[in-house]
Amino acid sequence: MRFATRALRIGQEPDPKYRAVIQPLYQSSTFAWEDLDHIPAIDYTRCQNPNRETLEQVIASLENGTRATVYSSGMSAIGAAFSLLQNGDHLLMATEIYGGTFRIAEKWLPRQGVSVSSFCPHDPLTIRDVIRPESKMLIFETPANPNLRVCDVRAVAAEAKKHGLIVVFDNTFASPALQNPLDLGVDIVIHSTTKYIAGHSDVIGGATIVKDEELGVWLYEYAKAWGCVPSPFDCWLSLRGVKTLGIRMAQHSSNALAVAEFLEKHPGVAKVHYPGLPNHPDHQVAKSQMTSFGGMLAVEFHSVEAARKVAESTKVFILAESLGGVESLIAYPPLMSHATMTEEQRLERGIPPTMLRLSVGIEDPADLIEDLEQALR
Ligand SMILES: Cc1ncc(COP(=O)(O)O)c(C=O)c1O
Repeated sequence: MRFATRALRIGQEPDPKYRAVIQPLYQSSTFAWEDLDHIPAIDYTRCQNPNRETLEQVIASLENGTRATVYSSGMSAIGAAFSLLQNGDHLLMATEIYGGTFRIAEKWLPRQGVSVSSFCPHDPLTIRDVIRPESKMLIFETPANPNLRVCDVRAVAAEAKKHGLIVVFDNTFASPALQNPLDLGVDIVIHSTTKYIAGHSDVIGGATIVKDEELGVWLYEYAKAWGCVPSPFDCWLSLRGVKTLGIRMAQHSSNALAVAEFLEKHPGVAKVHYPGLPNHPDHQVAKSQMTSFGGMLAVEFHSVEAARKVAESTKVFILAESLGGVESLIAYPPLMSHATMTEEQRLERGIPPTMLRLSVGIEDPADLIEDLEQALR
């Protein structure tokens, strides 16, 4: 089955009891045993639940993996991947990384005896500058949050593999509809399912997807042991959301391109960062690994005041954290997604205080453009 069909049908046979077409919500913490000789396939919701199992099967299939585990948040999924690190290990982290991942690497991993170094994902050979005998894992993401730079996933993964590293990749910004990192050499794909996978800004969740059985078992057992699992209802909502991922991503991408082309020509705008624009520095790399360019873009204005004024003046774009929902959001990274970093750290990563991040939704693109036009006025 192709992507759109798999999103609707994997693991989703009509319910055996009443033939319900939609899987019922199994809002039960525990499941009855028939007798002591037969352990039920699902017996306790922290360990597994039918709604969670179905969501995992669909997400594994959409990422071309063999096994997925879902979590109570994207950060739990990142924590699960980091649980493969132990005292004395070394992590390589891309300079362009989500603020929450940066926070764990700065504050929490060193407390567990794990050291962290940065490398530039646009120059995979910089991995050689920081590699050590105790290096164990490398983590990166692209398109990057929030500046939308795109690195070559195959090249970074191949270089990391030469050094025997476990390669972890956060695919939240692209979603499995646009990019499948397991096919590009990555070992563990992470998602904040809060974003495009669930897609309606009504649930927090995360996922890891792998091809390797041993890694899959480890990640599943981590979620079971630490209990960072999503509720059955959160899984049910996420499953409903993921069914429309393909068509949503197509609309997000075409709306974002229309918005980027409008902003690019506006005199009030200093720079537009969208990998779908032919003049974006990473346009060719993006084309080689993505089927379309997604709904995220960043815009720089001529002053901090102008950026703040636009953020506070839109009416269709809602001023809020997060991304990937059907409605458009406008965000100010220094006070939101990247508040953990100092101004200097943000500048080093190409996040100036004059930049806003847009999560372009699936509204009529003419309304989005009119809204930005009035805000710029
Ligand atoms: C790229 C990326 N990864 C991970 C996360 C964390 O996800 P969650 O908020 O679901 O924990 C986010 C949240 O914004 C994100 O943008």
